[in-house]
Formats: sequence, C-alpha cells, structure tokens
Amino acid sequence: MLPEKINQALNEQIAKEAYASAYYLAMASWCEQNGFVGTANFFYRQSDEEREHMMKIFKYVNEAEGKAISPGIEQPEHEFDSYTSLFEKALEHERKVTDSIHQITALATDLKDYRTLNLLRWFVDEQLEEENQMQIILDKLKLIKDDGVGLYMLDSELGQRSETTEANE
Ligand code: FEO
Repeated sequence: MLPEKINQALNEQIAKEAYASAYYLAMASWCEQNGFVGTANFFYRQSDEEREHMMKIFKYVNEAEGKAISPGIEQPEHEFDSYTSLFEKALEHERKVTDSIHQITALATDLKDYRTLNLLRWFVDEQLEEENQMQIILDKLKLIKDDGVGLYMLDSELGQRSETTEANE
C-alpha cells in the first residue's frame, strides 16, 4: 500500500510533469512561429517525453494501490523574449522539477518506501540528463551569440536530434 503522503506528493508530481509537457508545447509553438523548425521538433519531442514521465508516475501510483489523479493544467506563458530565453526558462523549469523529485526522494527515504525509491531513481538520473542537455545548448548559444549561420546550424542539429530519438524508439 502506498503511504498517503507519498500518494499526495506523486499526484503533485504528475501535475508538474503535465505542466512541463504543456510548457514545452508552448515553446514549440513559439519556435514554429519564429522560423526555428528544427527546435520546434525538439520541443515537441520534449513535450511528449514529459507526458511519458507523467504516465510513468500515474501508472505506478495505481499499480502500488494508490489513487492517481488526472491533473488540471494551468496555461503556460506563450511569449518569449528570444530564442536563448527559451532554453534559460527550460533549464530553470527543469531545476524546479529536479528539486521536487529530490524532495519526494527524501520523503520516501524517511518512510522507507523502497518501491517508490526505485521509481524515483530513474527520475533522478533523467533530471540530471535533462538539465545537462539544456545547459549544453545554452553554452553553444554563448559561443554563437547572434550569428545567423550558427543559429541556423543549431536549429538543424536540434531537429535532427529529435528525428534520431524517434528513430531509436
Ligand atoms: Fe519530467 Fe523534465 O521533467
């Protein structure tokens, strides 16, 4: 049986993953409207991944005899100052999600909830990967600055990356 406090925390996490999915969808839309077709595909892919994260927790909660709640989703912002600001906001958002995953991990450790800890281990690794991915893109943007060719190449690279990920699934 899933401890009540864990059930509640996981339902909050389900809502956060759903919000992340909606947020990345808004970013994909901005990219498409502003000529960054490759990056739009990258954010569409990120949005799909966040929904997969949500479902991973959702299914676990019910499997562990808890009660998974389908979340209401707050509308994310759709206006962004610049291409770089998308990745700054994405990194900031991923850091918040990481904090939240770490807090649930601390709670599950206190409650000796080994099953949930097993689930969360995957998320701890995933968050590290996602923060790192956004940080690497921001580092590249620092080098590129406002160079049009550089931005074009990064956009193509991000588009190809999402195609490769889909092909490997
Ligand atoms: Fe599922 Fe990127 O947080």
